[in-house]
Amino acid sequence: MQHLAGEAPSRERIAELAGGEPVLCIENLHAGYGKMEILHGVDLQLGAGRSLCMIGPNGAGKSTVLHSIYGFTRVREGSIRVDGRDITRLRPNQKLKQSGVAYVLQDNSVFPDMTVEENLWMGGYLMERPEQAKEAAERLFDKYQRLAERRRKPARVLSGGERRLLEISRALMMNPRVLLVDEPSIGLEPRYVDLVFGILSDLRRNEGKAIVMVEQNAKKGLEFADVGYVLVNGSVARVGTGAELLRDPEVGRLFLGDRLV
Ligand SMILES: Nc1ncnc2c1ncn2[C@@H]1O[C@H](COP(=O)(O)OP(=O)(O)OP(=O)(O)O)[C@@H](O)[C@H]1O
Ligand SMILES: [Mg+2]
Repeated sequence: MQHLAGEAPSRERIAELAGGEPVLCIENLHAGYGKMEILHGVDLQLGAGRSLCMIGPNGAGKSTVLHSIYGFTRVREGSIRVDGRDITRLRPNQKLKQSGVAYVLQDNSVFPDMTVEENLWMGGYLMERPEQAKEAAERLFDKYQRLAERRRKPARVLSGGERRLLEISRALMMNPRVLLVDEPSIGLEPRYVDLVFGILSDLRRNEGKAIVMVEQNAKKGLEFADVGYVLVNGSVARVGTGAELLRDPEVGRLFLGDRLV
């Protein structure tokens, strides 16, 4: 089993890495599915305009951290706060509407036979009036020319990178404070990977989103992220700036391609 030496990171270090007042603050989270506990006391903090990348072996619980923030798991203990408000027990729809958390799913989730604009409107399905969703979509079309040019095309004709852009845009419809992104680079050609990371980088820098991502491509993820967390067996085994983890020899051996697969 992959193993990282050393003690669990301290709360002080986690708070320091957040880079200011945390928008997202997770404390001692124990959560799982049904009777099975997957996360055993996870702490995580992140400030506005900052990005955090979780890496770790398959099955470590990375996606489960995102599921928990979004409300898809059973939380046994601990708390999740956004802007100081406890959202631990809100349901996903309430989270999206009230707490500014949005989730870009790991699986391909565009509706292929719907047009690009219809897909986008779906992201606003919780809005009070349909016009609000249309207005929000227009703002995104202004921002992303690639989508605007293809707005009346069925989503199935989009390239992999454009499809990911549509998924991210749909998550932006409710103007979230916290964006959860699971495996943004999965299945994409390298040129599209750069496109997607460029989009996320802009959202962090210019719109102050707090971005929590999981990334199998650990090198890419840590290069992008302000902060990196290594998750092993449902616990945070190591934290650091992205640059620190990239330099860490153990992280290199286990997760950055020096490993035997
Ligand atoms: N919906 C679910 N119901 C039951 N068990 C689940 C569910 N989703 C995940 N699990 C279990 O939780 C554990 C952690 O899975 P998770 O998907 O969080 O890992 P991960 O770190 O994201 O892995 P990967 O790198 O393969 O995506 C696994 O043992 C998995 O089988
Ligand atoms: Mg996963």
